[in-house]
Amino acid sequence: MARHSVAAFELLLAELAQRPRPLVLDSFCGTGHSTAALAGRHPGHLVVGIDKSSARLERHPATSPDNYLLLRADCEALWQLLGREQIGVDHHYMLYPNPWPKAKHLQRRVHGSAGFYWLVQLAANAAVGEGRIELRSNWQTYVEEFGIAMHLAGCRGIVTRVQPEPPLSLFEHKYRDSGHELWAFTGKVVESWRPPSDPG
Ligand SMILES: C[S@@+](CC[C@H](N)C(=O)[O-])C[C@H]1O[C@@H](n2cnc3c(N)ncnc32)[C@H](O)[C@@H]1O
Repeated sequence: MARHSVAAFELLLAELAQRPRPLVLDSFCGTGHSTAALAGRHPGHLVVGIDKSSARLERHPATSPDNYLLLRADCEALWQLLGREQIGVDHHYMLYPNPWPKAKHLQRRVHGSAGFYWLVQLAANAAVGEGRIELRSNWQTYVEEFGIAMHLAGCRGIVTRVQPEPPLSLFEHKYRDSGHELWAFTGKVVESWRPPSDPG
C-alpha cells in the first residue's frame, strides 16, 4: 500500500476525531468539482473526494462549503483501510471512473478489482437505511457490468440513463456537451448482507 494512501487515511481519521460526522465518498473525484457540489447536497456529512492524481487535485477551485476534504490516495487502498476499521459510507459516488475498455484490462474496472470487496463492505458498514452507491459512466456496458456485479454481491439497484442538470463533474460536463448518453447505477446493500470472508 502506497505511503501517500496511508497518510491520506490518517488525515481523514484525524478530521473525523476532531469533528465526528457520517461519511460521503466521491471516489475518482478528479479536480474535486463534484466533491464541492456534493458537500452542498450533504450538509450533515463529511464529503471526501479521493483521486490518485495530485495534478488533477491541484486544479480544484476554492469553494465555500467547509464540509469536504480532498485526499490524494488510491481509492482501493483507502476503501480497504476504512473497511478494516469498520467505518461506513452513507453515500458513495463514483463519477466516470476510467473505463479500461480492453478485455484484458477487466480487472482494472471497479467491479473487476480487488477493491470491489471493500466497496460493498463500506456500504454495509453504513448506518441502517444508508449505504447508497452510485456509479456513472458514458459507457453503458460498464454500468451494466457494474450493476450485475453489485447484484451478485447483494447490493440491489437499477441502471438508468441520466440527464444531469447541472452536470456534477468536469467529465460529465464534457460528455453532456458532446451529446454522449450518460448512464448510472444506483443501489443499496440489502439489510441482511453478511460479508464473505476477508480476502486478505
Ligand atoms: C475519467 S476521470 C473522472 C474524474 C471526475 N470524477 C469527473 O467526472 O470529472 C478518472 C479519475 O480517476 C482517477 N483515478 C484512476 N484510478 C484511480 C485510483 N485507483 N485511485 C484514485 N484515483 C484514480 C484519475 O486520476 C482521474 O482523475
